[in-house]
Amino acid sequence: MTFDRSLKIAPSILAADFANFGAEIEAVEAQGADWIHVDVMDGHFVPNISFGATTCAAIRPHIKTVMDVHLMIAPVDPYIDAFADAGADILTAHVEAGPHIHRTLQAIRGAGMKAGVALNPGTPAQMIEHLLDLTDLVCVMTVNPGFGGQKFIDMTAKVRELRKMIGDRPIHIEIDGGVDPTTAPLVVEAGADILVAGSAVFKGGSVTNPAPYGANIRAIRTACA
Ligand code: DX5
Ligand code: ZN
Repeated sequence: MTFDRSLKIAPSILAADFANFGAEIEAVEAQGADWIHVDVMDGHFVPNISFGATTCAAIRPHIKTVMDVHLMIAPVDPYIDAFADAGADILTAHVEAGPHIHRTLQAIRGAGMKAGVALNPGTPAQMIEHLLDLTDLVCVMTVNPGFGGQKFIDMTAKVRELRKMIGDRPIHIEIDGGVDPTTAPLVVEAGADILVAGSAVFKGGSVTNPAPYGANIRAIRTACA
């Protein structure tokens, strides 16, 4: 994975057909997805359960782009190797998930993955100031994590702060939650380069009718141009 700050759309398969992940991933990549965002939830750190490392391993062969795994679990450390074995390219842990995020990021890189750190809406940008040398991606949550299809919470001020803090370092700023053609330009203008979108990408389409996926992705891109 080479680093560049061009705008990338990362559809979240949380909004896909859970009985058909392989075909959904292939369809959305054929329709222009840059990365595939994979939401892992444990029913403890967040009030919902999605799936774990076994599912990630099963879908990995269907991903040609980048497997961007967002862990909404606590603890994280005991599971890092399982997600490395599953083939995650990027593994993102929440700063709120435990007392030793510094160690977690070291362990993620140590296991051969890119390391991401996610911030809940209530968590200030400064929480990651001393983690930047260990970080490849900062995920700014624009909803309280746990569910797809929630309303966007405006975090543009936080994105601006992070963009300044990051400077020339090769660190992505990813936005997750409530991204659509209306909200996307706000965060892109503030400095974000990776847009996760679940409902806004998968709405109206299916594996047998994938064209809406492409139209939805293009609508987000065009709104930000
Ligand atoms: C929220 C997840 C998001 C979610 C985004 O807990 O981390 O990735 O799937 O879904 P939308 O785009 O529908 O808000
Ligand atoms: Zn996510």
